[in-house]
Amino acid sequence: MNRAGQWTTIAISVAILIVTSILLVGETGAAQGKGNPESGKKLYLESCQSCHGPTGKGDSDMAAYLAPPPANLAAKATQTKTDAQLRKTILEGRPGTAMSSYDGAFEEAQLADLLAYIRSLKP
Ligand code: HEC
Repeated sequence: MNRAGQWTTIAISVAILIVTSILLVGETGAAQGKGNPESGKKLYLESCQSCHGPTGKGDSDMAAYLAPPPANLAAKATQTKTDAQLRKTILEGRPGTAMSSYDGAFEEAQLADLLAYIRSLKP
């Protein structure tokens, strides 16, 4: 191989390395920032489905007895809210409704998982 060929090989290797590390960082970032919808689903089924229903649509047996009814988490009204807004409702609850405060109930990572699950309900 001549010199130019060697430099090309090195340049290509470096480019591949850079792209790989960007992809890797992206994936870990997603795991940390966005949460895992599968773990979120488990938490949801334990803590939230009694009101919001098995599929998050607000279709629980309890719903008939609650005014206002539990939110349909798959609906546009919820899905167009930001993560910060949904997080706030989960942590603080909503006074005057059955949605109570879950402050301290979940670790940061679990909250992220719950949010990821709620986002996965988007039709
Ligand atoms: C005791 C019943 C009950 C339980 C349990 C419950 N919720 Fe709620 N939730 C409600 C009600 C009722 C509302 C609707 C309040 C309203 O109309 O403003 C609501 C609203 C919400 C909203 C706001 C939706 C929006 O569009 O603003 C989110 C997000 C939410 N709940 C998430 C959860 C999560 C996550 C859990 C489990 C950790 C949970 N809820 C458990 C009754 C409940």
